[in-house]
Amino acid sequence: MGFMNSSPGRLPVGPPRPPRPRRGASPLRDFPVVVWLLLAVVAAFIQPVLRESTWVMVHLALLGAMTHAVLVWSTFFAQALLKTPESVDPAAHQTVRLAVLVVGVACVVVGVPSGLWSLVVVGAVIVGAAVAWHGVAMARRLRVALPSRFAVTVRYYLAAAVCLPVGAVFGVLLARWPASDLFGRLLIAHTLTMLVGWLGLTVMGTLVTFWPTMLRTRVDPRAAGLAHQALPVVLTGLGLIIVGALVGLRGLAVAGMVVHLAGVLWWGRGLIGPLRAAPPRRAPALFATGALAWGLVLLVSLPLHVATAESWGGVAGGYLPITTVAVLGFALQLLTGALSQLIPTVLGGGPAIRMAVDAEFARLLLTRFIVLNAGLLVTLLPVPPDVRRGAIGAAMAAVALLIPLILRGIFVGVRAKRARA
Ligand code: HEM
Repeated sequence: MGFMNSSPGRLPVGPPRPPRPRRGASPLRDFPVVVWLLLAVVAAFIQPVLRESTWVMVHLALLGAMTHAVLVWSTFFAQALLKTPESVDPAAHQTVRLAVLVVGVACVVVGVPSGLWSLVVVGAVIVGAAVAWHGVAMARRLRVALPSRFAVTVRYYLAAAVCLPVGAVFGVLLARWPASDLFGRLLIAHTLTMLVGWLGLTVMGTLVTFWPTMLRTRVDPRAAGLAHQALPVVLTGLGLIIVGALVGLRGLAVAGMVVHLAGVLWWGRGLIGPLRAAPPRRAPALFATGALAWGLVLLVSLPLHVATAESWGGVAGGYLPITTVAVLGFALQLLTGALSQLIPTVLGGGPAIRMAVDAEFARLLLTRFIVLNAGLLVTLLPVPPDVRRGAIGAAMAAVALLIPLILRGIFVGVRAKRARA
């Protein structure tokens, strides 16, 4: 079984006793994700009257919901895998970090569309500081932990945490000079540092053990080793992308994307065994599989897009389909899968309650999966604008259903535990 069903770190037991990751409902853990998602859906509906509506939706989803989820759950996984003492990263610090992040995100999502650059700078500094603090906590965990082959996951988290503040600097510059020649170059530097670095590295690190957990099967014994070998490759690729974009060498940026893709494929070999052993049937694995498929589409289409554009200006011009795949196909779909596994797990309460909460996340499973993925596919085809708008609305609605499911899942779990108590 995956790590959350067995003993993850295989570490020698010794004092001090590690704390268990926090269980039960937790407002600051769960609700900001719900609120950011809800706001993203509202933004989609009031699009005609909202300034910079695409930017707002993208950032409510990726900077709001996803970044909050990454901070929460990578801490959860790091704790579960390394079993470090509470003092290494006290729960109170984690809570403050999450609150700080919420404030920073709010400043950025208000600042960019209203053209208040100083507010954007303040927000980006706050977000960057929260994530840098998170990175320091990861480094401390690695330093203190006993040796574990799954420490590789936390190394991915550390690398990811370095990426966000760097990407935030590019974001701030993009907000300052939206109409400059630099725009296309900064856009590639910003989006790839965030998507491939901050989100991608976190996902790669997590799936080493979480992929088999979602599939309810065993970890491939090679997975940690493959992830370990892939890390320098993907980081080299990302470095080349950033340097290529900043100095304006598209060939170098494309080469970086190819190197990065090679690293991802190498890492991905560790996913195949569990997938063969237990094909996806439940919500977590089904959505995660869909997300990985779109992630691959994204990583292949990015170098093609950059290589075939006429100029850096052209790179920025045709970027919307790439953003749509990144947000809906990859990020939000993965969030749907991950939360469908994680929320029932952290609510705890034993097998009966677990089944009841799982059942909430399984509601309309195939419909949601098909509408999301088919809707996204239609938006990428050469269809009339009305059809595209309808398809994207349907895909967003399929994602939005996650919100009532999370709330119902928490409600059902908490009520069942109270009833039993
Ligand atoms: C830290 C604060 C951030 C700031 C200040 C920021 C700022 C910006 C700006 C100014 C743009 C260009 C908007 C335009 O097209 O005119 C942009 C685009 C983009 N950003 Fe961010 N961003 C931030 C965080 C993030 C994060 C965390 C992610 C992903 C995980 C992200 C993903 C994207 C994407 C995909 C685009 C392209 C959107 C499009 O095609 O319009 N950003 N960002």
